[in-house]
Amino acid sequence: MSQDRLRPLMAQCRERIEAVLAQVLPAADAEPRRLHQAMRYAVLGAGKRVRPLLAYAAANAVGLPWDRVDAPAAALELIHAYSLVHDDLPAMDDDDLRRGRPTCHKAFDEATAILAGDALQTLAFAVLAEDEQSDPMTRIRMVAVLAEAAGAPGMVGGQALDLMAEGRQLDLDALKNIHRHKTGALIRAAVKLPALATGQLSPVRTGALDHYAQCVGLAFQIQDDLLDVEGDTAVIGKTSGADAAHQKATYPSLLGLDEAHAAALDLVDSALGALADFDAGADPLRWIASYIIDRDR
Ligand code: IPE
Ligand code: IPE
Ligand code: MG
Ligand code: MG
Ligand code: MG
Repeated sequence: MSQDRLRPLMAQCRERIEAVLAQVLPAADAEPRRLHQAMRYAVLGAGKRVRPLLAYAAANAVGLPWDRVDAPAAALELIHAYSLVHDDLPAMDDDDLRRGRPTCHKAFDEATAILAGDALQTLAFAVLAEDEQSDPMTRIRMVAVLAEAAGAPGMVGGQALDLMAEGRQLDLDALKNIHRHKTGALIRAAVKLPALATGQLSPVRTGALDHYAQCVGLAFQIQDDLLDVEGDTAVIGKTSGADAAHQKATYPSLLGLDEAHAAALDLVDSALGALADFDAGADPLRWIASYIIDRDR
């Protein structure tokens, strides 16, 4: 039911953010062409655009116009796309398929994929720094939030822990810590950036949104782990079973499928609970929370 209401909003956000992304990415026919083509290939494939969607939905919840969110949403998606390019490299998860087609290093080559990831990351910060929709102080604060979420204290740190955990048996707290960092941090930033851009959100509401985002971020990676076991390669657009092949630390491997599903469901309940005092403007955030664990890709 909520999925029927989310679908048109998702389509609208996807179309909007893809237009912004296509415009900020370097032209494919400008030199160095191979680098630019790899950047566009990595970003403009069939991504779900969940982080931009969360940013636009958070804007709805706090009464912020969408044009204030275009730059932060694009920056988030650029960082995310770079993280996927590097995540797929032979030195990391060594995957051949992403978004239903060859990974960036397969379609181009490893060096180009590394450089495309590097350039996507710096482009993300340029997009934020040059965002004329926000005043300079807000821009600086957004840059700082994104840097923390993307870097060693956030996604990159989580990726390091993820690699160190391969082949090892972790306890649940250690696994949660990996997921909160490698995936949760950027998802948390997707909600935090619009809240920050309003410049006037109460600490209580800011905290409630942050609790929502932390729950959704962890649930998102649990569902990703589940899809690696239960999903079809043709639907998920990446090779299913890859986590087990690499002895990755995942929710299903630690808890089993049923408990992993239950954990994700509990997190969605907790996310929805955090929005209890928000009005209908937060409905898109509510629909997204359910979508995160219902999705099949
Ligand atoms: C995949 O992210 C990597 C994780 C952080 C779990 P998504 O599932 O959002 O990937 P795309 O952007 O839709 O391809
Ligand atoms: C990736 O987690 C998290 C990132 C920061 C990219 P996964 O390694 O599980 O993501 P997929 O399954 O390859 O998309
Ligand atoms: Mg990985
Ligand atoms: Mg991976
Ligand atoms: Mg995965």
